[in-house]
Amino acid sequence: MASKLIPVVAEIKWIKKESRDTATYALKILDKDVNRDFKYEPGQFSMLSVVGIGEVPISFSSAPTDRDITHTIRIAGDVTTALSKLKVGDLIGVRGPFGRGWPLSELYDREPLIIAGGIGIAPMRSMIREIVNNYDKYFFRRTPVVVYGARTPKDILFRNEFPRYRGFFELILTVDSADPEEYWKGEIGFVTNVIKRLNINPLHTTAFICGPEIMMQSTIKELLLKGVAREKIFLSMERNMNCGIGLCGHCLFGPKFICKDGPVFRYIEVEEFLGIKEL
Ligand SMILES: Cc1cc2nc3c(=O)[nH]c(=O)nc-3n(C[C@H](O)[C@H](O)[C@H](O)COP(=O)(O)OP(=O)(O)OC[C@H]3O[C@@H](n4cnc5c(N)ncnc54)[C@H](O)[C@@H]3O)c2cc1C
Ligand code: FES
Repeated sequence: MASKLIPVVAEIKWIKKESRDTATYALKILDKDVNRDFKYEPGQFSMLSVVGIGEVPISFSSAPTDRDITHTIRIAGDVTTALSKLKVGDLIGVRGPFGRGWPLSELYDREPLIIAGGIGIAPMRSMIREIVNNYDKYFFRRTPVVVYGARTPKDILFRNEFPRYRGFFELILTVDSADPEEYWKGEIGFVTNVIKRLNINPLHTTAFICGPEIMMQSTIKELLLKGVAREKIFLSMERNMNCGIGLCGHCLFGPKFICKDGPVFRYIEVEEFLGIKEL
């Protein structure tokens, strides 16, 4: 097992540019035993470090059943900028996996609704690929729906993969604004607008949401108006992190440690801290 406190060394196997500020990195943990035993779930994260710069929490964007472990990273500040400058063959530090991932048992006999905004598609891709890799294992009441919103068509991540998922999901892509230079035949508008007009059966729907907090709040509001049960809404929360294992208190959200109790929560566990309890 990888140590939860001391990083192991991983080599960058390949890098794929996803958009102007985001790329996917495949990692190979150099210690053969640690590499073999490294098991993770969709929705969990690792702490990735660059020597002399720092460490950041990053979700798995690959599924556990994929060949390579991948992380998809958007440039935000110091550490993510340093990561973006690395090349194939460079080494980084990895601690993990950490946290509680997406509750895949909640997919069975349900109508899954997967909703992502921006870089929030990264941990969703892990679940999406897990579903694709094991499609026969799940029994869905309806083909799962994926709603993914990005700022512009150029910001859509994993774009060339989506056509491959169409047989498994009803896929709705939406952008805040279309780029006049690029032909766009998807939707224009916020994710919430798509949710508003979406025809769902609230009794059977389980929703999984990851994106900016404001987007998750307004999405949850729409889902509740549609009658989706609070207990059947799951969201992935983000906060600055340090230890990743419930020791330092950096990630406290009310009484919850996002690193240890989350990052995925059932809505009812965190609703009072999201500030939208009263509609
Ligand atoms: C559980 C979890 C999973 C994540 N998964 C991914 C992922 O798959 N891909 C990805 O690109 N990013 C992900 N992030 C966000 C990523 O960790 C931050 O972008 C990164 O820590 C920023 O560090 P930095 O040193 O590059 O920027 P900094 O210089 O530390 O910060 C740049 C700006 O971002 C703010 N910021 C830093 N960290 C966070 C945070 N966690 N939440 C909100 N604002 C923050 C800072 O306050 C500052 O304004 C995840 C975060 C968490 C908590
Ligand atoms: S990051 Fe230290 S307690 Fe969560």
